[in-house]
Amino acid sequence: MKILALSGSPRKKGNSVRLLDEFCRGAEAAGHEVLFFDVAHMNIHACLACNACRIDGSCFQQDGMQEIYPHLVDADAIVLATPLYYFGMSAQLKLVIDRFYGVNEALRAHPKQAVLLAACGDAEEDTLDALLAHYKALCSYCHWQDRGQALAIGVYDIGAVEGLPCLQEAYELGKSL
Ligand SMILES: Cc1cc2nc3c(=O)[nH]c(=O)nc-3n(C[C@H](O)[C@H](O)[C@H](O)COP(=O)(O)O)c2cc1C
Repeated sequence: MKILALSGSPRKKGNSVRLLDEFCRGAEAAGHEVLFFDVAHMNIHACLACNACRIDGSCFQQDGMQEIYPHLVDADAIVLATPLYYFGMSAQLKLVIDRFYGVNEALRAHPKQAVLLAACGDAEEDTLDALLAHYKALCSYCHWQDRGQALAIGVYDIGAVEGLPCLQEAYELGKSL
């Protein structure tokens, strides 16, 4: 299986990156091919809503998305890893999601499995509700089958995720695909 992994944290050793490391380790142990993109450190611009893709079937912006687009369409699974920023995914990851627009029809025509990995500082019962609702809506619209989430809750500082069960959950998720 070909898995597209998108990491949306600017913290290279952050908590969501650690979840993604473990997920990838599990996926590779199961024999899957993982294509990892550290989108927070790529040159990716916001969608301009120019609708050129509606005419050409592709996005005219020549930036980091051109590396991601071919895999985005043909991957069998997608894993989104993000810190929680003001109740949603990071802006760095949202930029990429908005650019899905450039291949919208092709993307929706290729159903995938999907996984969400997220880290947040607070530990209130509803801390992740908005992010999970967004992820669920994305899955429904993009024809993705949700295969689960690994969530690091109550972790602010880099390294706070170490020793939490969510790391093992991320590994198992990767292995179970
Ligand atoms: C701009 C910003 C916004 C944040 N917003 C939230 C939030 O709404 N809720 C929360 O619980 N934590 C919030 N946090 C804390 C992060 O989610 C937390 O530190 C997380 O572990 C970061 O993940 P990372 O290490 O993968 O970058 C915020 C942090 C930053 C920098």
